[in-house]
Amino acid sequence: FRVHWDVEAAEKGGYPHFMLKEIHEQPKALRDTLSGRLATDNSRVLLEELQMTPEEVKQIKKIFITACGTAYHAGIVGKYVIEDLARIPVEVDIASEFRYRNPIIDQDTLVVVISQSGETADTLAALREAKNRGARVLAVTNVVGSSVAREANWVIYTWAGPEIAVASTKAYTTQLVVMYLLGLYLAQQRGTLTQEQIREVVTALRELPAQVEAILGREEEIKGFVQKYAHCEDVFFLGRSIDYAVAMEGSLKLKEISYIHAEAYAAGELKHGTLALIVEGILVLALATQMDVFDKMVSNIKEVKARDASVVGITFEGEEELAKSVDEVIYIPRTHKLTSAVLTVVPLQLIAYYVAVARGCDVDKPRNLAKSVTVE
Ligand code: G6P
Repeated sequence: FRVHWDVEAAEKGGYPHFMLKEIHEQPKALRDTLSGRLATDNSRVLLEELQMTPEEVKQIKKIFITACGTAYHAGIVGKYVIEDLARIPVEVDIASEFRYRNPIIDQDTLVVVISQSGETADTLAALREAKNRGARVLAVTNVVGSSVAREANWVIYTWAGPEIAVASTKAYTTQLVVMYLLGLYLAQQRGTLTQEQIREVVTALRELPAQVEAILGREEEIKGFVQKYAHCEDVFFLGRSIDYAVAMEGSLKLKEISYIHAEAYAAGELKHGTLALIVEGILVLALATQMDVFDKMVSNIKEVKARDASVVGITFEGEEELAKSVDEVIYIPRTHKLTSAVLTVVPLQLIAYYVAVARGCDVDKPRNLAKSVTVE
């Protein structure tokens, strides 16, 4: 009798891959990242680590968010969120572009760097460049004491716990949570929102962990239909507003681990090029949670459907109409328009995961990619 003891299998806690384990750890990661940062009566957010005076906050004329990969995609959501809540102009830049392009920043600019590892070479260089130019830097990172944490003026930690899979999942959703917390914090200091508006977003944040759990409860359903599409060689992710930002992350997930060509498009741009590529055999993943542009999104979906693409739609429970225009619908719990990103990305993570598994790919260690890129 011999006992086979495999350390890696033990670390995976019964899951076949770290990525799936980390997808499932999201409710806890979100809870931990929110913990102690929401007032018990939902009236405001508390970010003790920021310690900015109201004067310092008012002095911020512009925010630059800079990052790489998935963290960059969190930054794009951050732009929608911070501009909407705090009414400060936000520019988002890929760190390797920012550091070499002579960006216009000064002491009235707040530079936010986002990095799961806190060690990405380009992100660290962007941070140093920003400081050299007199900007103050806020780091959003998952690793306590990492290089970006040490060098920034302020740090907000994501409490996702160690992320092992190369494809980032729980780090992304916790980075999104920090974008909401930061947007609300700045809004509170600048007085751009009513008490009721703040309460709505805070309440939505508090509900997110349980809502992600509910989506994970539909895993079998998603796994089931994914098999039909695993052979596709071209996939388009469409969305408008924040759904477009999430589409970028969904597309990256699929590319990273399944090696399928995937692109994200703002649905309104379809007719300016992409529509020429939509033919039978193409899979379109259409995100439709932004109610102010819902009808426009549905007409975009009809356009791709009319060209014989297969369409999987993602929308809120209760939006039964969408089912008429698509091949499959994934329903997610209803939430605030800004916080939808945390929910829509979860089915996209699961789709990427199950497509990669169906294609026999090495999910946790995709070819040519590294978890942390510490050299240029
Ligand atoms: C690598 C990883 C990505 C990650 C990016 C930024 O490319 O494969 O998953 O998003 O680096 O990493 P960071 O640690 O700075 O968030």
